[in-house]
Amino acid sequence: MLASSKVFLHVSDWHLTILHPRWSKVFNRRLLGYLRWRWLRGKKHALLPLERFLLLAKSISPEKILITGDLTHLGLPEEFEKAREYLIRLGPPEVVSVVPGNHDSYAPEPWEETYARWGAYLGEGSSLEEIFPRVEVRGPLAFIGLSTACPNFPPFARGSLGKSQLLKLSSLLREIGKERLLRVVYLHHPPLEGVVSKRKALKDLKALQEILYHYGAEIILYGHTHKSFRHIWETAYGKCLVFGVPSLTYVGSNFKRRARFYAFTLQGKELVLESFIWQGKDFAKEFYLTYAI
Ligand SMILES: [Fe+2]
Repeated sequence: MLASSKVFLHVSDWHLTILHPRWSKVFNRRLLGYLRWRWLRGKKHALLPLERFLLLAKSISPEKILITGDLTHLGLPEEFEKAREYLIRLGPPEVVSVVPGNHDSYAPEPWEETYARWGAYLGEGSSLEEIFPRVEVRGPLAFIGLSTACPNFPPFARGSLGKSQLLKLSSLLREIGKERLLRVVYLHHPPLEGVVSKRKALKDLKALQEILYHYGAEIILYGHTHKSFRHIWETAYGKCLVFGVPSLTYVGSNFKRRARFYAFTLQGKELVLESFIWQGKDFAKEFYLTYAI
């Protein structure tokens, strides 16, 4: 990886949790998620890749680290606190930015006990509606964070942007497009059809796609599916590169789901993607690809 100031990293879906939550907190819509994690999914996740990523990120010293949601598993205040501790260890809020996922909003909880704990990592404001869309400009790059988090009843894991966020997004994309900045949109749910089943998809996917198709975004990053994904989407505006990164904590045997992180380097009119994959004790470079921007 080039020692460039225009490097940004993408990770997702840490699913941090605690072993013994209070029963009153899980004996509700969280119950299925808690039991499945305790007996099935949790056995395939570990903190070691996350710990290793903390060290690697320090040595890469990127311009930005984008985290596309589901930092917590059940959206419990204790999990938010655990995620906050990792965020602080990862870097300052000027470098690390977070968007929420459906697991972070698993069930309604007071703002002060949950998202407020992430403070400037999430953005300025006292509700997701107030904070998102969130724009941060770093040189030629404009990072645009979207919130798709909304509470669900099992077995649903749907997302929603809402009319107001979509309206703000269309004018933002137009304005930033005029400034010729590279628009990097990051969100939890995939922005393309057919990537996840309906019960896990965005409710307002069509509206989002129309906006992206007409006003453009050069790069879109998402999490949620726990699978690696790459696609070049031809929009009315031009090429849009779409990337899905798996969970950073998955250590099970399914290759597509294996923990990865992506490093993007902007070199003039080229974007280099390097994928790093978990190999049991450490990450190793999986491949690199170059895209004309
Ligand atoms: Fe998710």
